[in-house]
Amino acid sequence: MIKTKAFLFFAILTLCFSCTNDDEKKYRIGFSQCISKDDWRKVMDHEMIVEASLNEDIDLTIFQANEDIEIQKSQIETMINDGFDVIIISPLRPDPLVSLIEKAYDKGIPVIIVDRKINSQKFTAYVGANNIDVGRMAAKYIASQNKENISVLEIKGSDNSSPVIERHLGFHQIINSDPNVSINYSIKEENLPQRLPQILDSLNIKPIHYVFGFNDNIAHDAWKITKSKATESSIKFIGVDGLNGENNGIQLVQNGVLSATVLYPTGGDEALKIAVKILRNEKVDKNNILNTTIIDFRNAEIMKNQYDKINKHQYEIESQQEKIKLQKQTYSTQSNILKLLLGLLIISLLLVVFSIYSAYSNQKKKRELEIRNKKITTQRNQIKKIAQEIKISNEAKVNFFTGLSHEFKTPITLILSSIESLSENKTLKDNKLSREVGLIFNNSKRLLRLINQLLDFRKIEDRKFILKASETNLIKFSNLIFNDFKREAQKRNITFSIETDNEDLNLFIDRNLMDKVYFNLLSNAFKFTPNNGSISIKIHDIPEINQVKIHFKDSGIGIPTSEMNQVFSAFYQGSNNNKSSSGIGLHLSKEFVELHKGSIEVKSKHGTEFIVTLYKGQAHLSTDEIVYDPDIIEETVLSFNDGYEDEVFLQNQPTQSGDHYSILIIEDNLDLANYLHGKLSKDYHIHLSDGSDAIEKAIETIPDIIMCDINVSGSLDGFEICKTLKTDLRTSHIPNIILTALNNKESYIQGLQSGADLFLTKPFSFAILQQSIKSLLYNREKLRYYFINNIHKVDTEQNFGLLEQDFISKINKHIEEHIDNSKFSVEQLAEHLNISRVQLYRKMKAILGVSISDYIQSRRLEKAKHLLDNTSLTISEIAYATGFSSPNYFSTSFKNKYQKTPKKYRSNT
Ligand code: FRU
Repeated sequence: MIKTKAFLFFAILTLCFSCTNDDEKKYRIGFSQCISKDDWRKVMDHEMIVEASLNEDIDLTIFQANEDIEIQKSQIETMINDGFDVIIISPLRPDPLVSLIEKAYDKGIPVIIVDRKINSQKFTAYVGANNIDVGRMAAKYIASQNKENISVLEIKGSDNSSPVIERHLGFHQIINSDPNVSINYSIKEENLPQRLPQILDSLNIKPIHYVFGFNDNIAHDAWKITKSKATESSIKFIGVDGLNGENNGIQLVQNGVLSATVLYPTGGDEALKIAVKILRNEKVDKNNILNTTIIDFRNAEIMKNQYDKINKHQYEIESQQEKIKLQKQTYSTQSNILKLLLGLLIISLLLVVFSIYSAYSNQKKKRELEIRNKKITTQRNQIKKIAQEIKISNEAKVNFFTGLSHEFKTPITLILSSIESLSENKTLKDNKLSREVGLIFNNSKRLLRLINQLLDFRKIEDRKFILKASETNLIKFSNLIFNDFKREAQKRNITFSIETDNEDLNLFIDRNLMDKVYFNLLSNAFKFTPNNGSISIKIHDIPEINQVKIHFKDSGIGIPTSEMNQVFSAFYQGSNNNKSSSGIGLHLSKEFVELHKGSIEVKSKHGTEFIVTLYKGQAHLSTDEIVYDPDIIEETVLSFNDGYEDEVFLQNQPTQSGDHYSILIIEDNLDLANYLHGKLSKDYHIHLSDGSDAIEKAIETIPDIIMCDINVSGSLDGFEICKTLKTDLRTSHIPNIILTALNNKESYIQGLQSGADLFLTKPFSFAILQQSIKSLLYNREKLRYYFINNIHKVDTEQNFGLLEQDFISKINKHIEEHIDNSKFSVEQLAEHLNISRVQLYRKMKAILGVSISDYIQSRRLEKAKHLLDNTSLTISEIAYATGFSSPNYFSTSFKNKYQKTPKKYRSNT
């Protein structure tokens, strides 16, 4: 619509302005003038200009050659090339211009020659007077004087132009036929100043009665020279041209300077008239000869008056023309304005019509849109409502299934753990029941995996996964999973291999998630590869791009090409797959790999190949995605009866057997509590609590390990119990394992905040639990060893320990204060520390592995040793100063510790 408006506007404007160009010249006439300086030529130019101005469609251009033949040539060339419609030439000389004039003529351009002639007939028209007649008239005027022996001086023009030649010819024709007149002298204009004075000096030899100058200027010049010789009264002067105006022919005749002048019209107006006729396709004569006449004292006056009148008329015409021109301009401007206004008026009218139409159609459209909008809004609200209902219902369903899945975990753990116990029963291994138990185990595992996948899917959907990547040897990690599938491969005679080009490849991976990816890709491979087929894992280190590619290739049924781009979509089931599957395994694998900023791709040709690409190093991960103390893999993929040895977690083997250790299990699920009790009581002394008396039990028993469920009976939950125990001096040193079904980031963080040492999610493998207990005890032993060996640093070292450091410091300080008191007792120390004697004993044993009484003794002996080294006190003085009841008892104790008696020790140092 806007386009149409613009087009209309411009069309009308163009129309208006195109009308304003109606005085445009239609024809171009060019005139090349050979001489510029004298009046005769100026009159010729002026006549042309006046004549041209009478014709509105004529555009006249006058070119001045200034007596330069080369300039005149180039002017003609220009007029030809610029497409002038008629060319008028007043030639300087008869020959040099011929070829150019003929060229123009041959091209069809009309050519008019004025005044001087050229040596060619190839032109359209000639305009000029007959110069032979001019010569004759001058001669006849002299002869008409009817005197005898008239002597004449002829002064010719300097060039060889046709007027010079022809005037001379005509003049001589008449003089020669008259016996009374003779031309005694004939000179050229250029020689006048030099020759005329000589001639005047010899007048007594050859007299002169008449001087004939070839134009009025020459005759006037001759008069001036003669006058200067004071002989002017006897000689008469005749010129040619007869122009009106000061110092021109007619005035010179009136003044008596010239006796006569032959009128020689310029032909400027005539030449232009002929040009116009040609342009109007009217017939013109080739030779247009202008009239001449003799002007002397008899008609000079009349001629002058005639010319003055003509000039006056001319002037009036010109001023009229100027006025007309001005009026035309005014008219043209006004007419343009009028047209413009008219145009604008039309545009305005059109716009008004258009606006009315637009308003009408807009109104109509608006109404339609409003109706449509209303419909859409109603529909949208309905859809929104339905979507909301669906969302709520979906959410409820998903929450129900998620909750149910969580609920499934505890019973499955119990089933799995019970089966693990059954499997250890030697008699079972030999009997037929073993296979069925194996079946139960494997299917329970499968069920567990499916539940976990379901929960993982939910977590991925909710974007709740946070990567917990730790530095892992990829080959060892891969080998562990590889081993899990070996038996299946053997059973089905599948060639199953793993290879790598770099054994020492350490990658930051979330072991739990990557375990799931491996498991998924391998169990898929095993599912779709027929017996006797092949499956391989190939690990390629590509250092140039800082990446590792893991290829999982099988010789299975493959994936149809048309479905390749869907394999990672949730709930995808291959069209050629008739085996049951959840359809989320590959989707989860992709999500897990992408959480590692890696990628997974699939190729299918003679089987299927999945390629997992992972980055090396840790630059691609954020700091909160990296952990230095990785979780134990939540779930193993072991089959029943597989030997489980997780190399990753075998590095810290406890040095002592578990016999001496005690564990407090805080669990209100009786089945689980009994199960754990039954399993662990073989190696550990077990205390049980349902949660209601957890704190009391812990303080009372000071166990070596506390295992605590989150949801337990009593007022405190597992986190709070853990936190309370960790901040109590009596129990702060005890490693705490939190067992829970809550597998989410928040619970994990809460567990860490409560000070838990380990966070195990249900269902857990008993083997892993057992191994975790051993590792924690081993770490405790290491810490204890460190404490013992660095006991002297306890008061100074900054990072020695938290509550424990404080505890030991307090003990040391109190012992130091009472070191000389042989009656200082453990009870006294316990009382000072505000704990019971048994608690003090257990705490010391747990931290330093020594009894408190041994510790007091050891502090006394260390002090004694120090006094032996640094003082001259006697041995018995030192014995009493360090709280020994007798010097003998001191000596025996000292020897027991340092293998020397105090006396020997001092003498040696
Ligand atoms: C002017 C003039 C006239 C003469 C004519 C001949 O330039 O010399 O006086 O009549 O040219 O071409």
